[in-house]
Amino acid sequence: MSGSKKMAAFLNLLSFYVLGQAAKEHGGQHQEIIPGTVEADNSSMCGSPSSLHLTPDWDPNIWAYPPRCESGDGGNACLYTSSSFAGGRGISIIMPPEIAGNVTKLPAFTEDKLLDAANRESDLPYEAKIIPGRGMGAVAKRAIKKGERVTLFNPLVMIHVGSRGVPAPEKMRSMQRQAIEQLGSEQQSLFLRQHGEFGGDEIEDIINTNSFAMGGVGGEEHTFVAIFPEVSRFNHDCRPNLEYTFDPSSMTQSTYAARTITAGQELTVSYINLISPRAERLYVLHGGWGFKCNCPHCARTLEEIDISDMHIQKLRSIWPNCGEIWNPEQSCSVDEAMELTWLAKHERLDGQWQAMCYFQAAKAFKRSGNEEMAQKYHQLAFDNTRILRFEL
Ligand SMILES: *[C@@H]1O[C@H](CO)[C@@H](O)[C@H](O)[C@H]1NC(C)=O
Ligand SMILES: *[C@@H]1O[C@H](CO)[C@@H](O)[C@H](O)[C@H]1NC(C)=O
Repeated sequence: MSGSKKMAAFLNLLSFYVLGQAAKEHGGQHQEIIPGTVEADNSSMCGSPSSLHLTPDWDPNIWAYPPRCESGDGGNACLYTSSSFAGGRGISIIMPPEIAGNVTKLPAFTEDKLLDAANRESDLPYEAKIIPGRGMGAVAKRAIKKGERVTLFNPLVMIHVGSRGVPAPEKMRSMQRQAIEQLGSEQQSLFLRQHGEFGGDEIEDIINTNSFAMGGVGGEEHTFVAIFPEVSRFNHDCRPNLEYTFDPSSMTQSTYAARTITAGQELTVSYINLISPRAERLYVLHGGWGFKCNCPHCARTLEEIDISDMHIQKLRSIWPNCGEIWNPEQSCSVDEAMELTWLAKHERLDGQWQAMCYFQAAKAFKRSGNEEMAQKYHQLAFDNTRILRFEL
């Protein structure tokens, strides 16, 4: 349980980055599978695989339509839509049929009341507003305490990362369009109100611009691209005041305040790895999302930027010896760990990064026999994030 949490959290740190880069991958031969036709395949000349022209096993109590499947070199990719998921919110999932059974066995599908508190847009402590120079954003309606949960949502659409390259691009686009059309009209407008940055096919553009990576759904090795329209409101900041995590069993994403937020402040998440120097941040954000980073941390004076970049370089140089906090073999010294916590604090890496540095200090003190300092830093780690659990 906490193992998969850790995996998911580490994945989160990179998710936006990876997706920005991988968003445009396509390819593979394909063959259409027509749902419901049970004829034997007679076209297996030319060495093409004699795939079953069958609808895979599916449970009509869960899925509202027979799955639509497309096949290619990488196997089959099928579209499943549930209208009743999460108390009628609904969800469309594109995935290999082999894992559909695992997905529908998740508590998200089987435990009736599990998602009662999720997906409540009316209770949110923020509202959408135009932010000068940044387009639409989310602004706090009231003070939000550090560690408070801000959102809890299921995705409207999930696409297995391995399925994205299976059908030919035009088949995938048609499948993605159908994924939206099979949702209710309210959900469709929720999806379509999201911003697309790159142009081209509207749905694909929205997916490429707003995807989160969601790991461990239906098996440790499975990663999905997931769209949470409500969470797409959050703009990027290199020093965000929210951090987020996924729970694969409930298929929810939660965001938590990484520091105390006052009424009127914009709520932000980071789309990229926080431990990046400015030039890298500009490059990755422009390549992945098409915008020039203008967050306060990118817009600082040249002198401040130099200092921050030096901090980041230093952090990166200590990280190999101290960064893998779950690795019992690491021999991070008290001095190194204390330098890490100092750097994280001065770089305002609020939330899980700061907490990981404190935890590394706690472990270093424990190794050196200083139990009192170990406890103190363990507590600091605990106080600084809600999305990782630390056991000394
Ligand atoms: C498959 O091909 C054979 C030989 O051409 C033909 O007799 C048979 O009817 C075909 N079967 C189907 C299901 O099309
Ligand atoms: C389904 O889940 C089981 C148990 O976690 C796992 O062993 C299996 O590999 C999963 N199936 C697929 C196709 O990933």
